[in-house]
Amino acid sequence: MSRAGDVATFDRVARFYDWVSPSADAAEFREALSFAERDVERVLDVGGGTGRGASALDVRERIVADAAAGMTRQARRNGFEAVRADAGRLPFVDESVDAVLVVDALHHFGDPDRALAEAARVLRPGGVLVIREIDPTALVGRLVEWGERAYGFDSTFFPPADLGRRVAAAGLDARFRSSGFEYTVVGRA
Ligand SMILES: C[S@@+](CC[C@H](N)C(=O)[O-])C[C@H]1O[C@@H](n2cnc3c(N)ncnc32)[C@H](O)[C@@H]1O
Repeated sequence: MSRAGDVATFDRVARFYDWVSPSADAAEFREALSFAERDVERVLDVGGGTGRGASALDVRERIVADAAAGMTRQARRNGFEAVRADAGRLPFVDESVDAVLVVDALHHFGDPDRALAEAARVLRPGGVLVIREIDPTALVGRLVEWGERAYGFDSTFFPPADLGRRVAAAGLDARFRSSGFEYTVVGRA
């Protein structure tokens, strides 16, 4: 279910990825995690790349799962436990993590609904799925979408309400909030 071209590109740029990526929005994540109805001690960052999203969280255990080997190598260099895995087949047992992050990654997944179902499966009751995405209905979002396609990525972006419905369809209690061209969807198990 991977988009092989997208993953191969991230594999190639992994060593340089952190040089050009802005820091993740720690305040936004804290806000999103506060929706959990349990203590958040074990977080899985899916499509987590070098661990940029995980690095913004102050939690005991942060694990990166990514389809690109180069990204998982870089995540380990950055001090994270990291596994090479497809978002649609996570190598974790049911109800084994308190939160799942998907930051700037869902639009690259070949089967986003399957990835959402997998995230819901591994969440413990009361845990949360936190998704940061680009809004393709906002002007800057449209430019990002155009830029990714021009670069050769096979990205699919979802408007916030659409993604909220998809998260609800995965069996989670979903809500979203927009901030400019980026938005956050949170779904609680
Ligand atoms: C734009 S990067 C975002 C990385 C990180 N979340 C961040 O915010 O910096 C997208 C990531 O999704 C990963 N990815 C793409 N398709 C995937 C899939 N099917 N399963 C797991 N990871 C995938 C890529 O390898 C890449 O590391």
